[in-house]
Amino acid sequence: MLVTSRSYQEYEAMFDLSELPGSVLDCCAGGSSFTAEAAARGVDAVAVDPAYELPAAELLESVRRSLPDGAQIVDQHAGSFVWTWYGDPGRRDEMRIEAADRFLQDVSVTPERYVAGGLPALPFEDGQFDLVLCSHLIFTWAGTYDRDWHLAALRELIRVSRDEVRIFPLVQQGAGEPVRYLPELLDALRPVRSEIRKVPYEFQAGADEMLVLTR
Ligand SMILES: C[S@@+](CC[C@H](N)C(=O)[O-])C[C@H]1O[C@@H](n2cnc3c(N)ncnc32)[C@H](O)[C@@H]1O
Repeated sequence: MLVTSRSYQEYEAMFDLSELPGSVLDCCAGGSSFTAEAAARGVDAVAVDPAYELPAAELLESVRRSLPDGAQIVDQHAGSFVWTWYGDPGRRDEMRIEAADRFLQDVSVTPERYVAGGLPALPFEDGQFDLVLCSHLIFTWAGTYDRDWHLAALRELIRVSRDEVRIFPLVQQGAGEPVRYLPELLDALRPVRSEIRKVPYEFQAGADEMLVLTR
């Protein structure tokens, strides 16, 4: 799986964020600069990802390698992507490179913000974070993780959140196929409230919705 580097701007759009609450967890943060940039805005921001177990040189290598590999996935499924939000591939690449650099700088200066761990068992307390974000793992990798894993992962994100969990996108990687058991999962999570909300971001064609889970 790629250790990709989305920027704060991409997170803002994917999760339709305006003001951030006091504490935020980015779960499966990979090489994203979201945590660095949220922390710079005064938020108690934490990133978690199994890749943070890697020695520094290997993490750097994974993040760097994911830049061309991610672009290749887009090339392989060119008809399934739209460029309205980014404008063109050059701008997207630029944002990802800047985000990767920001991440790599922050992880070397403030390693305590980057916690090694993974779903479905996170090393955090119940209700530790006001808001929990999950970009491009749940649903995206439904070809790798099965329905039971998804249910356990969603329950775990809810456990560590105080108010809200937001997940984007709701389709699988590549061609963007829907995850057919999504409605079943939402039923199984009750009484947790779920809402599928439109966001001002679209890259995989038609994938312009996030899932909001509220305790
Ligand atoms: C496609 S990247 C997304 C990174 C970042 N959120 C972004 O949007 O650019 C997926 C990330 O999920 C991480 N990952 C894989 N399995 C995981 C698990 N079980 N729990 C948490 N993160 C996981 C990978 O290491 C990788 O960094």
